[in-house]
Amino acid sequence: MTAVIAPSLLASDYQCFGHEVARATRAGADWLHVDIMDGNFVPNLSFGPELVRQLRPATHLPLDVHLMCLRPEILLPMFAKAGADYLTVHVELGDAVAPLLWKIRSLGKKVGLAVNPPTSMKWVQPFLKSIDLLLIMTVNPGFGGQSFIEEVVPKIQAASSWRREQGLNYRIEVDGGINFETVAECARAGADTIVSGTTLFQQRNMRAAIKKMRATVDASHRAAAAKLGELKF
Ligand code: DX5
Ligand code: ZN
Repeated sequence: MTAVIAPSLLASDYQCFGHEVARATRAGADWLHVDIMDGNFVPNLSFGPELVRQLRPATHLPLDVHLMCLRPEILLPMFAKAGADYLTVHVELGDAVAPLLWKIRSLGKKVGLAVNPPTSMKWVQPFLKSIDLLLIMTVNPGFGGQSFIEEVVPKIQAASSWRREQGLNYRIEVDGGINFETVAECARAGADTIVSGTTLFQQRNMRAAIKKMRATVDASHRAAAAKLGELKF
């Protein structure tokens, strides 16, 4: 699957938010990642639907809205109307997950499901056929600028094997602590959709950074495919 690089606006400079959106767009980002935190599901607050509504006309890029919220059902229609393209909810919401995924689909949006580092992949398995995006958190959600959790890598490998074995085509997204080193590890394991906040926004030359990240993902995919080919014969 082709690489998607999605800078996370959580790490942008809010004093000049419009400029930051334009900077990421001009720099060749594929999507923009928007983190929604409700102060309950995670111990922090971030943005609401009004921000998405105002940023929608400022970029042509798909808006990848990651809802870290305990009650996303009341927010989904608002984010859909505001102009989100992907809407991602967390598998930790248990019984609420199936109706939430259905709701996103019925709103005409791409369906995403996120899984936190301590949560077993067995909880996402029943939904793999119904989603467009599987977001594997590589930090505990709530804050930007945290360190990548290595223990998550086997979950990316599992998601990639299941996708291949079952002929499915959900994207595998990683989010949290992604820099030029950890992106290679994630892509080798099968990630194709890369969220990066602190690393990308702190660059003076974001265009070069995005290009480098994309090239790293592509090279890692080629290496992984070659290895898989070797194993087959
Ligand atoms: C964390 C958010 C991430 C965050 C990643 O809760 O879901 O999207 O912005 O930021 P970095 O890349 O700084 O870890
Ligand atoms: Zn996120």
